[in-house]
Amino acid sequence: MDLFEYQARDLFEKHGVPVLQGIIADTPEEARAAAESIGGVTVIKAQVKTGGRGKAGGVKVAKTADDAEAAARDILGLDIKGHVVKRVMVAQGADIKEEYYFSVLLDRANRNYLALCSYEGGMDIEQLAEERPEALARIAVDPAVGITLDKAREIAVAAKFPAELVEKVAPVFVLLYGVYVGEDATLVEVNPLVLTGAGDIVALDGKVTLDANAAFRQPGHEALEDADAADPLEAKAKLHDLNYVKLDGEVGVIGNGAGLVMSTLDVVAYAGENYGGVKPANFLDIGGGASAEVMAAGLDVILGDPQVKSVFVNVFGGITSCVAVANGIVSALEMLGDAATKPLVVRLDGNQVDEGRAILAAAAHPLVTLATTMDDGADKAAALAAK
Ligand SMILES: Nc1ncnc2c1ncn2[C@@H]1O[C@H](COP(=O)(O)OP(=O)(O)OP(=O)(O)O)[C@@H](O)[C@H]1O
Ligand SMILES: [Mg+2]
Repeated sequence: MDLFEYQARDLFEKHGVPVLQGIIADTPEEARAAAESIGGVTVIKAQVKTGGRGKAGGVKVAKTADDAEAAARDILGLDIKGHVVKRVMVAQGADIKEEYYFSVLLDRANRNYLALCSYEGGMDIEQLAEERPEALARIAVDPAVGITLDKAREIAVAAKFPAELVEKVAPVFVLLYGVYVGEDATLVEVNPLVLTGAGDIVALDGKVTLDANAAFRQPGHEALEDADAADPLEAKAKLHDLNYVKLDGEVGVIGNGAGLVMSTLDVVAYAGENYGGVKPANFLDIGGGASAEVMAAGLDVILGDPQVKSVFVNVFGGITSCVAVANGIVSALEMLGDAATKPLVVRLDGNQVDEGRAILAAAAHPLVTLATTMDDGADKAAALAAK
């Protein structure tokens, strides 16, 4: 989960990273009040989960509260790379002497953490990495050791900070690493980290990505979710603890086991090529049990997707018997009643397959077609979606 800058700022503050005052505002009037309460020069900053806000007119300096209100009026509603600004942060203005770059992130390829750091900030980091790679230090960080003060000094030296600054920035790197591990983040980035006229190091902008897999031990993170942005179908699936990912095709897919569902997506996409490029509409793994409730919840989510034209239920009975799955499908369709409106292709195999198929055949639901194999099912579902 990516955070907004103001949320990153709050986490920084919680972990002792030096930040400036920042107050969020949803209207120009709130921005004026925030600027009055902060006093002096403020910077009005668009809160959107994309980079390059400054260049897009989403960061404006305001000398007075009047200016702050006017700037907020300009920025609210602005479209920055497809993200409409609904909220700004009114930040205390910094007296910037120098700008630096620092980030620590999960380096999956090397099964390690990686710190990136540059003495030359203020520039697009992607551009810097490309044009002057020698100016961007890349230092591997052992997760078992972390960024100690010594390690932080090593990073600062590699990033070509002059000696007197190494001692100033290194403790801040340690604190930022505290945010990274303490919050189970996969990215903590500060661009720019600045040196002020008074000689202080301050994080002026923050990007944080939290690891959703750690949600169970980070109860505070739920409150950071952006309810506005969540896909309503994904939210519904989450409510039922379903592993659901919305895709943009037409064939709804339900299966048990992530591997089977993944290969079902491939088979559906392949079959869809014969029907004008029909594609899978989602990933949905209902897991082991496949009870009527879970099946009904899964079907409910998929049928709620207006893009879905047909559904392919592909279940392999392992520990779960096909009888339970077939009964689950029959009662799910009863539970959904009129809400079930789209054709269903069902392929069952494995444990008690004959009994399971017999149950579906006996129920003879008008929307259900049985398929014998996975390829056959994918073909039938794609054909129905293309109709
Ligand atoms: N509180 C502040 N006081 C003074 N100047 C600021 C402040 N915040 C930002 N700036 C200036 O504005 C520039 C851009 O700000 P910021 O890094 O937050 O946005 P951005 O880089 O355009 O957006 P993104 O990081 O999302 O790409 C900074 O490099 C800094 O020079
Ligand atoms: Mg920035």
